[in-house]
Amino acid sequence: MKVGYIQTSPIFNKKEKNFDQINDLVSEIKADLLVLPELFATGYTFISKKEADSLAEELDGQTAQFLINLSKKTKATIVGGFIEKNKNTLYNSAMIVFGSKVLGVYRKLHLYYKEKLWFSPGNKPPEVYKVNDVNIGIMICFDWIFPETARSLALLGADIITHPANLVLPYCQDAMVTRCLENRVFAITSNRIGEEKRGTDHFKFTGKSQITSYKGEILSSAPEAKEFLDFVDIDVNRARDKNLNEYNNLFEERRINFYKNT
Ligand code: ACM
Repeated sequence: MKVGYIQTSPIFNKKEKNFDQINDLVSEIKADLLVLPELFATGYTFISKKEADSLAEELDGQTAQFLINLSKKTKATIVGGFIEKNKNTLYNSAMIVFGSKVLGVYRKLHLYYKEKLWFSPGNKPPEVYKVNDVNIGIMICFDWIFPETARSLALLGADIITHPANLVLPYCQDAMVTRCLENRVFAITSNRIGEEKRGTDHFKFTGKSQITSYKGEILSSAPEAKEFLDFVDIDVNRARDKNLNEYNNLFEERRINFYKNT
């Protein structure tokens, strides 16, 4: 299957411009799975909860409609981040869309830095979505530093972990090699580029979106500071065999009785 990412440069509080940027980048592309960054339509660096609230949407909002149109145009399953408003609570979420339907939403479990001031931490377990026989999991950005997130998705049967991101630390791309290797799953980290200076914060986003194989190979790596998209062909069946060799199976050999406090 053909899977990929779009690395964009969102402009804060300019949803229409951010949608246009993606439409221009994809133009004639057809694919099976396409991952967009975290909060790709709104920008990242809020200065108040009120401001985040003013950009939030429900699952039938403008961003869902944009993703539905993008899915129809590219024929791909799309995963992308947005501010979700649900019963007056805001979450840093990502939705998965295929054809005319929103299949589900993941609410970021591990909030980074001041995200804790605007968003509530995810209140439901990660899920895996089956589309055309492919098992797709979602985690968002900083979730990478808690190996339990990727492990939970892999134990639920994810073949591919989609990973919308707005990375500001330099470690994630390397860490994803380990996340994939230890779980024998593919991952697509779709990061953004650019800078945001708002309030007392100044973030520089690290680009280098990455597709990582079940063996920890880097199949695609985007530039650090350029809008970019890339696709690779993968065989997801490879992620379903958890044998490292004839003696070692990564899931069956877990010694869960001996792992304290996990
Ligand atoms: C992050 O989780 N967006 C740093």
